[in-house]
Amino acid sequence: MSKPTTPAESAQLKDIVAHAKEYGFVFQSSEIYDGLAAVYDYGPNGVELKNNLKRLWWETMTQLHGNVVGIDAAIFMAPQTWEASGHVAGFNDPLIDNLDSKKRYRADVLIEEKAAEYENAGDPARGAALTAEMGRLLTANDLAGVRQLIIDEKILCPVSGTGNWTEVRQFNLMFSTQGSAVDSEAPPVYLRPETAQGIFVNFLNVQKSARMKIPFGIAQIGKAFRNEIVARQFIFRMREFEQMEMQFFVRPGTEGEWYDTWKAARRRFHEALGLPAAKLRFHDHDKLAHYAKAAVDIEYEFPFGFKEMEGIHSRGDFDLTQHQNLSRKKQQYFDNDLDPATGKPYGNYVPYVVETSVGADRLFLATLCEAFQEETITEGEGDAQTTKQRTFLKLHPAVAPIKAAIFPLVRKDGMPEKAQQIFDELRFDFRLVIEDKDAIGKRYTRQDLIGTPFCIVVDGQTLEDDTVTVRHRDTREQTRMPIGALRAYIGEAVSFKTVFAKL
Ligand code: GAP
Repeated sequence: MSKPTTPAESAQLKDIVAHAKEYGFVFQSSEIYDGLAAVYDYGPNGVELKNNLKRLWWETMTQLHGNVVGIDAAIFMAPQTWEASGHVAGFNDPLIDNLDSKKRYRADVLIEEKAAEYENAGDPARGAALTAEMGRLLTANDLAGVRQLIIDEKILCPVSGTGNWTEVRQFNLMFSTQGSAVDSEAPPVYLRPETAQGIFVNFLNVQKSARMKIPFGIAQIGKAFRNEIVARQFIFRMREFEQMEMQFFVRPGTEGEWYDTWKAARRRFHEALGLPAAKLRFHDHDKLAHYAKAAVDIEYEFPFGFKEMEGIHSRGDFDLTQHQNLSRKKQQYFDNDLDPATGKPYGNYVPYVVETSVGADRLFLATLCEAFQEETITEGEGDAQTTKQRTFLKLHPAVAPIKAAIFPLVRKDGMPEKAQQIFDELRFDFRLVIEDKDAIGKRYTRQDLIGTPFCIVVDGQTLEDDTVTVRHRDTREQTRMPIGALRAYIGEAVSFKTVFAKL
């Protein structure tokens, strides 16, 4: 359960949203037309940060695990996919309208917010009982019961202030589009609401072509689409977003161990990236999705409270069995390992699946929120001492959009040429920029604001002895070193190995 947002927390989110726009991380989609709700574009620094996060996830999954391979499936899939997966029938949010304000809400969100109020008022037991009751009603698809719960709890519309509610209805979250240009009767094709199904339908293709032996995983990064009713909190809940999912296929009976293994491994990933342990927590689902036998969220404490960043789901053989039944194509694996109980091979079975599913955009948002730092710094000495505010992004150097900025101290005396020479020497290794405008202090500030870990200054001494100063973003300390040492120095700090070593 998440605590309600306090005014200070909203202000922090506002600052982060403004910062993301001003410094080229995230823009509202089609802003010149006043934007499209819950759709966002990534700017020049945003796309670098996001790509780095995606590459880090990809390599963590596929490079560090000899038994995990990747795929890139299409967004469009045969419409039967979504019947088999249960999304046509069951991928719904419960909606309720207030008759006075004409505003539409997610019934479960209204109840969760009420539960959070109880928790905040020092009565967490009452809050927990309320969410448990909601989970029970939703699992039973008792929508009249959900409405009654809203009325009994005296939940009022935040706009009209009344409890004049409609019935609760289910609303399917999938977007669909015309499947055929020539056949108007053709069934619609859906924009996939999760990437996972592209993995399930390719299970045998991958297993056979890559000669995978159970247990093994298939990883994928790609777009997913959901017609979210409550779209807010910036890029937290979008209609078009990206998922990084991994389906791990296991022998039935071993799924409990693998669930625990992946749960721990995924939490370690977030900590290794620099999200503090105290701002991460597990949250077992109150209401299981239609496919899940067990499910837990890894929540991060965003400025608007603890919220889901990643889901770990034990999906059993639900998806493969559903596809097997609808397609009439066997989705089985022959396991020739010997079962110690019988001394015979385990034989044919439909594997069970443990899934890890993290939103690239939510990981981006968590990373950005965590990195956003404001501090008061003191400059000068004695009477000349001044204090000022500094804002900087304390991004893990491995994911920072730009690894180093090179500053010629002045635009003359051969310094710009030397800066260019350093750029040319290092550009095969790192993403760099050369900045030669404004005073050095201003240039440092500009790089701090986008999270560049190192600023390399070319000065008079550089021309004499080929040394430069390297200024560190977090401490503002400067180290003098030979140009020849830069590659190894920066390389070590920005390497993914610094994250991998903590996994
Ligand atoms: N295949 C399982 C699945 O899709 P999910 O919990 O619905 O599970 C997984 O989604 C992750 O995808 C979430 O933990 C979240 O990070 C991300 N996600 C889901 N809906 C999202 C949305 N509307 N906007 C941004 N990210 C979203």
